[in-house]
Amino acid sequence: MATIFYTATTLDGFLADENDSLDWLFRQDQDLNGPMNYDEFIGRVTVMAMGATTYLWVRDHLAASGEAWPYPQPTWVFTHRNLDPVSGADLRFTSADVRTVHADMVAAAEGGDVWIVGGGGLATQFAAAGLLDEIVMSIAPVTLGSGRPLFPGRFDLELTEFARNRAFLCARYRVLGVLTEDRSAEPER
Ligand SMILES: NC(=O)c1ccc[n+]([C@@H]2O[C@H](COP(=O)([O-])OP(=O)(O)OC[C@H]3O[C@@H](n4cnc5c(N)ncnc54)[C@H](OP(=O)(O)O)[C@@H]3O)[C@@H](O)[C@H]2O)c1
Repeated sequence: MATIFYTATTLDGFLADENDSLDWLFRQDQDLNGPMNYDEFIGRVTVMAMGATTYLWVRDHLAASGEAWPYPQPTWVFTHRNLDPVSGADLRFTSADVRTVHADMVAAAEGGDVWIVGGGGLATQFAAAGLLDEIVMSIAPVTLGSGRPLFPGRFDLELTEFARNRAFLCARYRVLGVLTEDRSAEPER
C-alpha cells in the first residue's frame, strides 16, 4: 500500500494551463499498454483524493460529454464550498486536515494504493505532512510557460524508475522529505 501522486505534467512543471485546459496533454502519443500506464496504476488504487478544481474539471467535462463518473473508488474532494455531487459517485467532500483525511482513506483502502489525483498544491500538503510516498509522472514534450503548478514545495526525491512511453518520459520518485537547508547547501563533488 502506498500513497502516490500519479500525474502528467509539462516539461516546465504545469498540470494544466491557466484556464485548466489539458489540450496539451490529450494530443500526445501514448501506448496505453506501455510503461507506467494508467490502467496498471488504477488497478491497484482503492481510494482517491482531489482538490475542488480538479473535481469540477472532471465533473463538468463528463457532463459535457454525457459520460458517467469513471471512478468506483471512494473519493475525498477537498473544498471549502458546498459543491454539487455527481450522482452515483462515492464522494466525500472535506476541509479537514490532510492527516485526518489520510487516516480515513487508509482505513477504507483495504490494502490498496491511495491516489492523490491533484492538483499540485494538494499533493504538496500530503507530502508536507509526511504522507506522500511517491510521485509518478509522465512528462509531456511541451512547455506552457505558466499554469497550474506540478508540485509547489521544496522536497528531496529519489528517482527509482524511469521509462519512455512514446511521447512521454515517465519517472517514479520516492519522496524523501522536506528539502533540508543542510542538504541543499552541500557543495557539489
Ligand atoms: N495533468 C494532470 O494529469 C492533472 C492531474 C490533476 C489535475 N489536473 C488539473 O490541474 C488543475 C489543478 O488545479 P489546482 O492545482 O489549482 O487545484 P486543485 O488542487 O484541484 O483544487 C484547488 C482547490 O482545492 C481546495 N483545497 C485544496 N486544499 C484544501 C484543503 N486543505 N482544505 C480544503 N480545500 C482545499 C480549494 O477549493 P475551495 O476553493 O473550494 O476551498 C482549492 O481552491 C486542474 O485544472 C485539474 O483539472 C491535471
